[in-house]
Amino acid sequence: MEPQPSQIQRAAERLAVADAVAVLTGAGISAESGVPTFRGQGGLWENHRPEELATPAAFARDPALVWRWYHWRRGLIADCRPNPAHAALVDLEARAHNFTLITQNVDGLHPLAGSGNCLEVHGSIWAVQCMACGRRYEERSLDLAAPPACKWCGGLLRPGVVWFGESLDPVVLGRAVEAASSCQVMLVVGTSAVVHPAAGLAMTAKEAGAFVVEINLEPTPNSAWVDVSLMGKAGEVLPGLVGGS
Ligand code: OAD
Repeated sequence: MEPQPSQIQRAAERLAVADAVAVLTGAGISAESGVPTFRGQGGLWENHRPEELATPAAFARDPALVWRWYHWRRGLIADCRPNPAHAALVDLEARAHNFTLITQNVDGLHPLAGSGNCLEVHGSIWAVQCMACGRRYEERSLDLAAPPACKWCGGLLRPGVVWFGESLDPVVLGRAVEAASSCQVMLVVGTSAVVHPAAGLAMTAKEAGAFVVEINLEPTPNSAWVDVSLMGKAGEVLPGLVGGS
């Protein structure tokens, strides 16, 4: 379905006069880059559901299995490149006075596209964290003959992502809440808006008085109350919205 030109124009006008803009993105913004989304299609890997692998209990039970899954996901993402939706957010950041990008994605495509103020609230698939010394660092190449070891202390490494049942980094989440609470316009792009607390940031912005614009292929739980809902591909709608403001 094509979004209505008048709706795009309404949103673009708000964007043009906003001093503070926040953007919340989900897997849908990377779909046109070839990164699989979580919901809506497939989701199974070697007969395991992501919900059964992306948990502290699964890692404690079988770290090698969990690492094999992340290695597979890293392989899916490694050759993916940012698409026009990622690029549009870089353009938006360049001209907004106060801009915060909050992403649930762990694929690293926003930083790769050139987004500066980007909060990766669910971590990064390219980061590792040591279970023993707690150090966190980027590690793109891993020898997975066995679960990988920390380069500093030799302890067991885990993926640097947030798992089901874990809390988000309170500092990163605090900055995201602050951005959502103080923006005049929030764009909510390519998220099913069902995983909290990230999903709740859109309502935080709305309750604080922001004009909230959703961009998605299909309706979400937010569609009923956002100010403008633009149905379409992020890579097509977002450049038009940003370029038209
Ligand atoms: P989902 O896979 O739940 O939702 C993707 C959304 O993107 C859906 O609403 C699609 O309709 C929409 N979509 C797909 N292609 C699109 C396109 N080209 N343009 C616009 N929209 C498109 O992904 P998330 O909402 O990001 O958490 O999932 C949230 C969290 O659930 C993830 O961060 C992950 C997962 O469990 C953790 O790993 C902690």
